[in-house]
Amino acid sequence: MHIQTIKTEDLRVAEYNPRKKSPHVLETVKASLKDYGFLQPIVINAHQCELCGDRRNVIVGGHRRIDAAREAGILEVPAVAVNLHIVQEKQANLRLNAQEEFKKSELTTIIQELNTLDASLTQTIGFDAQEIVEMLYAARYQSNPTRRLLTELFLIPPFSVFDAKQDYWQKRKDLWHEALGNLAETREGKLAGGTQNLLMMGVNKGVSIFDPVLSEIAYSWFIPTKNGSILDPFAGSLARGGVAAALGHTYHGIEIRKEQIETNLAKLTELNLADKATFYLGNSKNLNELIPPTNSYDLIFTCPPYYDLEIYSSDAEDLSTKQTYQEFMEDYRVIFKQCVDRLKDNRFVVIVLGDIRDERGIYRNFISDNINLFQSLGLHLYNEIVYVTPLATAPHRAERNMRKRKVVKTHQNILTLYKGDPDLLKNPRLLEIHQKVLTFFKGDSETIAETFIAPPNIIRDPIPHEPNPEEGIV
Ligand SMILES: C[S@@+](CC[C@H](N)C(=O)[O-])C[C@H]1O[C@@H](n2cnc3c(N)ncnc32)[C@H](O)[C@@H]1O
Repeated sequence: MHIQTIKTEDLRVAEYNPRKKSPHVLETVKASLKDYGFLQPIVINAHQCELCGDRRNVIVGGHRRIDAAREAGILEVPAVAVNLHIVQEKQANLRLNAQEEFKKSELTTIIQELNTLDASLTQTIGFDAQEIVEMLYAARYQSNPTRRLLTELFLIPPFSVFDAKQDYWQKRKDLWHEALGNLAETREGKLAGGTQNLLMMGVNKGVSIFDPVLSEIAYSWFIPTKNGSILDPFAGSLARGGVAAALGHTYHGIEIRKEQIETNLAKLTELNLADKATFYLGNSKNLNELIPPTNSYDLIFTCPPYYDLEIYSSDAEDLSTKQTYQEFMEDYRVIFKQCVDRLKDNRFVVIVLGDIRDERGIYRNFISDNINLFQSLGLHLYNEIVYVTPLATAPHRAERNMRKRKVVKTHQNILTLYKGDPDLLKNPRLLEIHQKVLTFFKGDSETIAETFIAPPNIIRDPIPHEPNPEEGIV
């Protein structure tokens, strides 16, 4: 590393520099310069090109020390020159300023420019993705003094990816679990593989537990009134019914397992919420007989069985016990036809789904089948959300799955469908922040493990890189 001496008068301030200026800190730096001189060289750019213009002598790191040096009458300082395009220069500026106080407006502007929610960069500069999202939002609404944070306004950022791994999500979930108690009771060990699935047994006692935060979001975003009515044809535990009742809505759930309803009712009575949730024991295929004919609802919200992924009982009417996917889908259609008939006009269906694979590992395309079904019932597909779940056992399964080129699924899908005239909707659409990558296979999926090597051949350094003296630090 070559350290040169440069005149302070030749140095140029980076026009976008986000670091805060504080008179107090400036005095401290001045005092330190007086006592010790420059302990570290500053970093300047030596780059110029047609695209970036002349960036020579622009300070990349050391703005505060140069301010102090100028005030202290220091005429020359030690500097290291780097040769960086403007975008890299801005990134380097952020990295060198890591852990320092930033002027948020300028920081937001550069982050917007760099178009990054890139984890490594956000971590290096000391902000997590959530803070960056909040800053971008705050910047957009800067002119509005009544602006509020996205999490304050909506509970979670209203983006097309729901990230349940985030701290704000986990804290909210803990709160609901504390309020509602153990949501896995009565189904322990029911997940495919049952008690054999030791890894899953370690997580959630072997059952998939519905996330109460999802319920809270569905009710607060997709019900038009404070005291709405919800219909759920596959009630399960209290993660949907309990949250609805606690939030002051009226919940009607159909559930085929008597013991689950008994557990739910006991818990609701304990919580003093029994009048807000009604559970109907039976097969939701008989919805019209189970539920009084005059009942209509503000929201259909449910998480159905994903065919045979989780077998809930040995009851032949339990949808998860159907012999074929086709049979399952036939009953499924009959159930949702009745649900949609009971949904009021200009209201939503919110359904939480996960795709399932057949015995050859091929996806059944359950999500698309749902979209087709609801569209055929006259509903409009309105939001498609990727719900990213905590990793749980995913890392343990990765190596094995990848032998067959199956990427481990760490998400579920939430569809919101609308019944009625979409022009009447005031709800904003969610901001799209995901795209999808699909992979299709031609041939017999059983041959994948033999045909494709495991683990995949990853070449660490595909383009061997000769250090270029024109690039990076000179
Ligand atoms: C996906 S689970 C819901 C459980 C949810 N994941 C939870 O933890 O709350 C589906 C529920 O539907 C119930 N079920 C299955 N077939 C049914 C049917 N034909 N009618 C009513 N309920 C049914 C199961 O007993 C199970 O509780």
